[in-house]
Amino acid sequence: MNILVIGSGGREHTFAWKLSQSKKCKNLYIAPGNAGTDGIAKNINIAIDDFDGIKQLIIEKNISLVIVGPEAPLVEGIRSFLLSDSRLKNLKIVGPGTEGAKLEGSKDFAKNFMNKHGIPTAASRTFSKDTLKEAKEYLRTVSYPIVLKADGLAAGKGVIICKGLKEATTTIDKMLAHRMFGAASEQVVIEEFLSGIELSVFVLTDGNTYKILPEAKDYKPIGENNTGPNTGGMGSISPVNFAQGEFLKKVEERIIIPTINGLEADKIDYQGFVFIGLMNVKGDPYVIEYNVRMGDPETEVVLPRIKTDLVDLMIATADGTLSDVDLEIDSKTASTVVMVSGGYPDEYEKGNPISGLDNLVQNTIIFHAGTKRDKNQILTNGGRVLAITGLGKTMEEALDNSYELVSKIHWDNVYFRKDIGHDLNTLV
Ligand code: AMP
Ligand code: GLY
Repeated sequence: MNILVIGSGGREHTFAWKLSQSKKCKNLYIAPGNAGTDGIAKNINIAIDDFDGIKQLIIEKNISLVIVGPEAPLVEGIRSFLLSDSRLKNLKIVGPGTEGAKLEGSKDFAKNFMNKHGIPTAASRTFSKDTLKEAKEYLRTVSYPIVLKADGLAAGKGVIICKGLKEATTTIDKMLAHRMFGAASEQVVIEEFLSGIELSVFVLTDGNTYKILPEAKDYKPIGENNTGPNTGGMGSISPVNFAQGEFLKKVEERIIIPTINGLEADKIDYQGFVFIGLMNVKGDPYVIEYNVRMGDPETEVVLPRIKTDLVDLMIATADGTLSDVDLEIDSKTASTVVMVSGGYPDEYEKGNPISGLDNLVQNTIIFHAGTKRDKNQILTNGGRVLAITGLGKTMEEALDNSYELVSKIHWDNVYFRKDIGHDLNTLV
């Protein structure tokens, strides 16, 4: 079967790596891909928002399965765009349609969905420019800190936690009156602050049934001990030691089952990943956000723990036959350490040559996130450049492997966090 992965980050490299291991994968294409995917897949220089270009590629290369990596094409309706062409009516797509993608594309939609289906989440209210006055009045009545969220996609920057009334009032003004995040902040969700420890749970659904994939913990802030501004993610670990047994049972019963049933009840046909961002508040799970795709860098620790053929899993998801597939999970631990360009998440340089990529360390995998090839060199080409995954019997062993390889790779101004996983040690 010919397969297309859409995207260019570490998540998509990981998908390509895993799909290429399947005997059922004949030709693997990735649009646009990066220097790491070049070789295990055929990189095709088509942007993720060039729907016409993607459609032509699918027809020309006789592609029968498409996996959409990032959220933007899903929110923009790539699924219905492709399926509405009579030549592509049998195309298998992993990723929801526009209605399902609203779970990520609109925080207000997600909140209404959770409230309607009794899914535990922080109390909230939504305001627009027309109700700015009411929003400010509401801010006088809440307890602090309080969380302000742009309704739409804001490249991971749309959530602002305000410590007091003054900051919250200025921020709501910026978001609603001055369109701080453009169209994304035409509506703002004001949400109660939840205090606890976060983790991500991933579910694959074919619209009828679901499979729970390995959970992961993501490290979002740039600085050690979770300080400084948020990034796309600086590292991740799977499994998560505090999220086993009883807690995961609560997640399944209180969150996953009502989510899958809610999609069905609301007639939202959904084939793809549901990424549930959770807060563990004193042993009880609350949803912080839904995403309609896999996480990055969570994919870099989740897929290496899945033993089942990924092509089989993806076909079953698209075809509605997920209940026929046995999901086999490896009990070992996976860790990933993200190596970034100095300055990220603010300004950073691109085009620095990377050395040390040929080093071999057992039980490690190098996933490229932001790289490009220039003749015989691999250059940095993004904020997040590489994700170095290590595997081991324990978290310590996995992290030792990741960090051993990290220490052998270099470029000018490279930066990475040295404390991935440390907080989990203190929790057991
Ligand atoms: P999001 O873009 O929704 O993932 O939010 C970004 C980050 O903001 C999350 O990873 C949390 O760390 C934090 N956050 C979001 N909502 C809340 C909340 N209700 N309480 C506490 N922290 C939150
Ligand atoms: N690592 C968080 C995300 O992919 O949204």
